[in-house]
Amino acid sequence: MFDEAEPSSKEPATFRVPKRFLEIARKVACHRDSRRWALLYRVLWRLTHSESRLLEVVVDSDMHELLRMEKAVRHDVHKMRAFVRFRRIAVEETEWYVAWFEPEHHIVELNSAFFADRFTAMRWSILTPERCVHWDLSKLTFTAGVPRSEAPTEDGVESLWIQYYSHIFNPGRVKVQAMQSEMPKKYWKNLPEAAVIPALLEQAPRRVAAMMTKSEAKRTDQLEWHPAEPPATRDLGKLREAAVACKACPLFKSATQTVFGEGPEGARIVFVGEQPGDQEDLQGKPFVGPAGQLFNRALAEAGIDRATVYVTNTVKHFKWEPQGKRRLHKTPNSRDIAACRPWLEAELASLRPKLLVALGSTAAAALAGPDVRVTRDRGHIIGTPFCERTILTVHPSSLLRARDEETRRASYELFIADLRLIAAEIRR
Ligand code: URA
Repeated sequence: MFDEAEPSSKEPATFRVPKRFLEIARKVACHRDSRRWALLYRVLWRLTHSESRLLEVVVDSDMHELLRMEKAVRHDVHKMRAFVRFRRIAVEETEWYVAWFEPEHHIVELNSAFFADRFTAMRWSILTPERCVHWDLSKLTFTAGVPRSEAPTEDGVESLWIQYYSHIFNPGRVKVQAMQSEMPKKYWKNLPEAAVIPALLEQAPRRVAAMMTKSEAKRTDQLEWHPAEPPATRDLGKLREAAVACKACPLFKSATQTVFGEGPEGARIVFVGEQPGDQEDLQGKPFVGPAGQLFNRALAEAGIDRATVYVTNTVKHFKWEPQGKRRLHKTPNSRDIAACRPWLEAELASLRPKLLVALGSTAAAALAGPDVRVTRDRGHIIGTPFCERTILTVHPSSLLRARDEETRRASYELFIADLRLIAAEIRR
């Protein structure tokens, strides 16, 4: 006698299930609980045997359990994205970034495309106790898990990160309990910034008091900051469209519009400036004002056609203060820059430039970290997480501000020399 569950020869060899079930199943399959397979099989059986609308019955005990597991895996995926911290190591003169993470579920494969997409220009490995994933700039590979002792613990990147974290740490927003639930203690040991958290927490009341004495406008400004959330796409058009409505920092209120990057999608060189100026704000395009015109002239002199390069800014809204009838440029602060950073990262992940050029110190710090100095480091090829060949040079507006004609001419010549180097580098 046949078992009831055995398919009869008359049953079709294929069957249909809702797409949503496949999405859920992909995550539930990564749950640590070994009962997941029986549960998935049961739900699949019921879906294909007269309960085709089962997914809508959220009170059903199987569905309840399925969605609970899906949620736990989603949460773990999010935690991994938020708490993986890469440390730089040198492997036979090649820079490699290594992170240690202990996921609760089997999510390494599920999450790897995200990291390849976000950190596409650097070689990295994420080590975990069960499974490791590696990116060599072209493909993902997976190997068996390793003990924690395999993960490097100290380096320069770490101290940069700690500085950055201390800088963006907002004592007025500290909620210790919420912080611990968002950043559970078990992850702290992997986070370089965790070492400074106790000190920062201890200083928090004093810093809050100091902040409170500052003007109401400034306080509002700080409360209104949060990182931008670009859609998860590589499509520049879609990113540009989404950036139109960005309200991640208060700059959108006084600016005319978001000024997104501009240039062909296949551009091999990407130039990053600081923020749009008055003209850029009005026209909605980067580098079209006086600094932009100087930039165009210098590009042409160095043999680079502006139409072939992509030009963008670290901050996408014009920050200004009134002076009479004029709108005077105001340098963006670390909060403006951090809020806007996800847009720049998304643009670079989409473009994957062969050469990345920071124009001025704001862009240089955003791309290469706070320790770089444009005057010291200009004209050298350095590696950054966004592009293996990154070059720093001055901002064209610094030439406009030169104190006399002679200085202006000399600075312009140096700028052209940097651009010629870039032109030669891209021809190599
Ligand atoms: N300065 C910049 O940094 N970007 C612009 O778009 C214009 C001036």
